[in-house]
Amino acid sequence: MIREKIEELRRQLEYHNFRYYVENAPEISDFEFDTMMRELQDLERAHPELSDPNSPSVRVGSDITSEFRSVKHRFPMLSLGNTYSLDELHEFIARIEKEAGPTEFVCELKFDGTAISLTYEDGRLLRAVTRGDGTQGDDVTANVRTVRTVPLRLRGDDWPPYFEIRGEILMPYASFDKINAEREAAGETLFANPRNAAAGTLKQQASSVVARRGLDCTLYQLAGDDLPFTNHWESLQKAREWGFKVSDAARICRTAEQIDAYIAHWDEGRHALPFPTDGVVIKVNDFAVRRQLGFTAKAPKWAVAYKFKAEQALTRLDSVSFQVGRTGAITPVANLEPVLLAGTTVRRATLHNAEQMALLDIRPGDMVYVEKGGEIIPKITGVDLSQRPADSKPFEYITVCPECGTPLVRYEGEAKHYCPNQGGCPPQIVGRIIHFIRRKAMDIEGLGEETVELLYENGLVHDVADLYDLKAGQLAELPRLGEKSADNIIRSIRGSVEVPFRRVLFGLGIRFVGETTAKYLAEHFRSLDAVMRATREELTQADEVGGRIADAIIEYFADEQNHAIIRRLRAAGLKFEEEARELASESLAGRSFVVSGKFSRSRDEMKELIEMHGGRNLAAVSANVDYIVAGDNMGPAKLRKAEKLGVKIISEEEFIAMVGGQEAPAANGTEADSATTANTGGRNNGAPAATEGGDGEPVQQGELF
Ligand code: IVH
Repeated sequence: MIREKIEELRRQLEYHNFRYYVENAPEISDFEFDTMMRELQDLERAHPELSDPNSPSVRVGSDITSEFRSVKHRFPMLSLGNTYSLDELHEFIARIEKEAGPTEFVCELKFDGTAISLTYEDGRLLRAVTRGDGTQGDDVTANVRTVRTVPLRLRGDDWPPYFEIRGEILMPYASFDKINAEREAAGETLFANPRNAAAGTLKQQASSVVARRGLDCTLYQLAGDDLPFTNHWESLQKAREWGFKVSDAARICRTAEQIDAYIAHWDEGRHALPFPTDGVVIKVNDFAVRRQLGFTAKAPKWAVAYKFKAEQALTRLDSVSFQVGRTGAITPVANLEPVLLAGTTVRRATLHNAEQMALLDIRPGDMVYVEKGGEIIPKITGVDLSQRPADSKPFEYITVCPECGTPLVRYEGEAKHYCPNQGGCPPQIVGRIIHFIRRKAMDIEGLGEETVELLYENGLVHDVADLYDLKAGQLAELPRLGEKSADNIIRSIRGSVEVPFRRVLFGLGIRFVGETTAKYLAEHFRSLDAVMRATREELTQADEVGGRIADAIIEYFADEQNHAIIRRLRAAGLKFEEEARELASESLAGRSFVVSGKFSRSRDEMKELIEMHGGRNLAAVSANVDYIVAGDNMGPAKLRKAEKLGVKIISEEEFIAMVGGQEAPAANGTEADSATTANTGGRNNGAPAATEGGDGEPVQQGELF
């Protein structure tokens, strides 16, 4: 019964997922979808014996860190020959037609992400592996399962029992912009382009992070033995029917003119696409012709990539200036002779850091190439040395802060130089205040960047706490600010004391603590005092907090000036605690817990239950702890320490009984149940033998399809 119910929910959720993400045509509301998902999650939690790695509930990811196992590709992932020239493309077509006679081509977009190979067994996703070196790649299955457009179970029933399908994991521009905005707010280095962001995300340790990054997956090539198709076009249509996202931009072209027209169309049309592309791939359609043409050592002879020219311009580098961010990071910026590029006039471009400048040997006065790829900010990609002035000298990078004269420092593992004078360097001071008043932090309306600069220049604010001492009269005296706007600003500042703790924490501008991290810290520790008291190890127990973030938090609170600011903000009435929630009971009041190991519910839910019943969660075992709730795989060190300190160790079931037992512990599965769900190991029905007889290399055969 329960099994059927779970199966039905999984089937339904998978269907609606497909309608929403792949077909863009949802049939039910988000609310209905979420309700169904919650029902499934509840049932799965109560019946762990019915778990399934391909259940739609895995799409939210988990915080278990994955190590990426290296996996050999059954069919190597070859690369494509590429060209930027239509003449070369025409030669490619002529060569093929000479050898094979007139033939059909399929033209597709060349998606600019990171290549992935998905293996399906009996219609279920078995494995997802990156391209790696083409021969072997990393097993990133846990991460790829969170990508909503990757079907976990296929639709229909006419798929081969075992096959691979290849495609591209893409990051749509919208997700890219959102992530970079968050990273910028946290003072982190930005992803240069959506391709790097997609590749970086796939290699994330925690799949829950991947799940939130909004990745997409488009498939364009099947591989397998004895696939039931005679041409590529047919295989794409079938793949679509089975639930894969297959681009509808693909076209059959029969002549060079049709191919040229396809390219011309997308060279322009790609700018309107929501994800990045960098060319067109032209593939022979007919598998028999593909077989006839064969491969070179690296690439098939039956396909080629025509790459769009990155939009590039040549212009003079007038001078280099340096920006100092709120964290003290120094960014060299190129001041260019204005030049038209991809429809906009470019005057400035980033030079990234000292190393990058040295690598390209960029010098003021040089003619430089400026490019605008998928990047947000144009960048300099090279120098035209033939035009270098005779008296030109290598550029010497600055050694002191251009704003305050303090000697610059380099931190280990960071490419950028930093000005360490946090308390006295004007752009850092102003930058911190601007960050604090942002909409996502304290949301102080009426106070823009310019006004903050004005306030600073006039000696009225030096840190964020000074904002709360401002008087309307002081503001009204400033140029450009009348009485009315002065009043509004003061009202808005006063009103900001109602902003919840998580946003205050974000507003403090601790390095690497972005909006999301601040939220997790607030949820985990619930007060600033608890964050301040936490050890490095305790900090890393909050979601998404790794060693680097923990160190930055500790460094922030090691600074007495920051303590002074926080004291004044407290006095001004800002919130330094998460709002108390309504308790379900007081049954655990006054008692503290450490939750350790794996449970039938997530650890966060266990913690939530503790707090809902008035208890307190502690991160580490100490004499202050009353109970350890021990799940599976609890670390032996923790166990020993608990025994030594005499802390009571209880099971999940005992704990549930303490909170009134309304959360029934998981029912026990029968042996038969467990046997049938052990579906990941040992099965090889349908899986082909490692080598196949027949003509040619088995490896190449698969790649043909
Ligand atoms: S077909 C044997 N089709 O381009 C060739 N590749 O430069 C199999 N790519 O590694 C690849 N869009 O990551 C193919 N429509 C498309 C593609 C595409 C992007 C990528 C792919 C491949 C690289 C080769």
